[in-house]
Amino acid sequence: MDKMVVRGGHQLNGVTAASGAKNSVLPLLFSTILADGEHVFHNVPDLVDVRFAASLLESLGCETSYKDHTMRVTVKGVKTVEASYDIVRKMRASILILGPLLSRFKEAKVSLPGGCAIGTRPIDLHLEGMKAMGAEINVDSGYVLANTKRLQGAKILFESPTVGGTENVMMAATLAEGETLIENAAKEPEIVDLANYLNKMGAKVEGAGTSIIRIRGVEKLKATEHTVIPDRIEAGTLLIAGAITGGEVTVTKCAPADLESLINKMRESGFKISTSGDSVTVHRCKGWHGVDVTTAPHPAFPTDLQAQFMALMTQSDGTSVITETVFENRFMHVQELVRLNADITPKTRVAVIRGAPGKLQGAPVMATDLRASACLVLAGLVASGETVVSRIYHLDRGYENMEAKLMALGAQVERLKE
Ligand code: UD1
Repeated sequence: MDKMVVRGGHQLNGVTAASGAKNSVLPLLFSTILADGEHVFHNVPDLVDVRFAASLLESLGCETSYKDHTMRVTVKGVKTVEASYDIVRKMRASILILGPLLSRFKEAKVSLPGGCAIGTRPIDLHLEGMKAMGAEINVDSGYVLANTKRLQGAKILFESPTVGGTENVMMAATLAEGETLIENAAKEPEIVDLANYLNKMGAKVEGAGTSIIRIRGVEKLKATEHTVIPDRIEAGTLLIAGAITGGEVTVTKCAPADLESLINKMRESGFKISTSGDSVTVHRCKGWHGVDVTTAPHPAFPTDLQAQFMALMTQSDGTSVITETVFENRFMHVQELVRLNADITPKTRVAVIRGAPGKLQGAPVMATDLRASACLVLAGLVASGETVVSRIYHLDRGYENMEAKLMALGAQVERLKE
């Protein structure tokens, strides 16, 4: 398993570009099942999770190819409606194949994703949505077995605004009979991106990006072409990388509007941030103070930037309180930051960070999930000496070429192959 060695103390300066959004491309790839033909996606990031998604599609009988950030998926029916445990266990987002398979082929057998480092992450809301549309759902031997004569439009009120649940139901509803109304829908930009592609395919989706999404079912969809939106989480991580070193970093090819909650918090903390078109710049900053942050569904502060922001707050002047409301167990990075000499008290969903600029010390640490690994790399940028982050494969699931991007900005990072 690869490790990443980060030699701290180098200020990051310069310009870097965001890649396509991981959380957009995964549902987009699974939506291809809804229509035969060649689907073409541009700005597809080169990520381990994208490869997992392609291998799931191939296991169903689709053909995929990837070159220069363009992925082509050719769908000609499917040879099986089963998404096996071997594939689903590697990537929870595989559950998003359920809606498309069920809607188009009237049956699906999808392995339950199982546990995950950041909490139990159930899929009950996905299944309730399918049931409301008339699917028969059984869970047997670790698999969700779903079938239907044809999905029927329904009114679905989500108990909480689940991103994956909204996407799964939205995809399923495109080929259902009649109208589906999703209430308390998630509003993330990735949901809008998916709705845009579904509409290009001929679907009738309205309201994506608001809490009420209306989908009028159609008989057939057609394959087409799309450019994936920028990854706001990667862009935010790169911005924090510049900020934590006190440097000036511009992230291009991003959507500053999708980063508003982060930008607001960074400004509140004392950073000067400017935006222009598709780029955002954090300016040189000698010191910043602690601010309180509460994660919540979009447009509030994203849980996927919580760990990285915590790294930034270890370098603030003063105390900050970070509250995680989206996942019940997403402070696994705290103990690792403490190994780097951070002063953090974690409670169940609240962490108190007593900032101490320049006090982090390099040490061996372990990445526990995707965003936690980014947090540890960021902390390593300002820790004295060397920070060795093991299990860096988590980073590769969601960040394209992170070390190259950081090195181009002046960081000293090195991947150790094992
Ligand atoms: C997606 C993102 C992930 C991000 C998360 C929240 C992808 C591939 N992943 O994950 O990076 O951290 O949104 O912004 O897009 N829940 C239930 N029952 C369900 C579904 C969810 O209780 O059926 C709970 C979850 O346990 C969690 C909360 O709802 O506590 C939010 O989860 P959800 O929005 O569904 O996250 P994901 O789609 O899994």
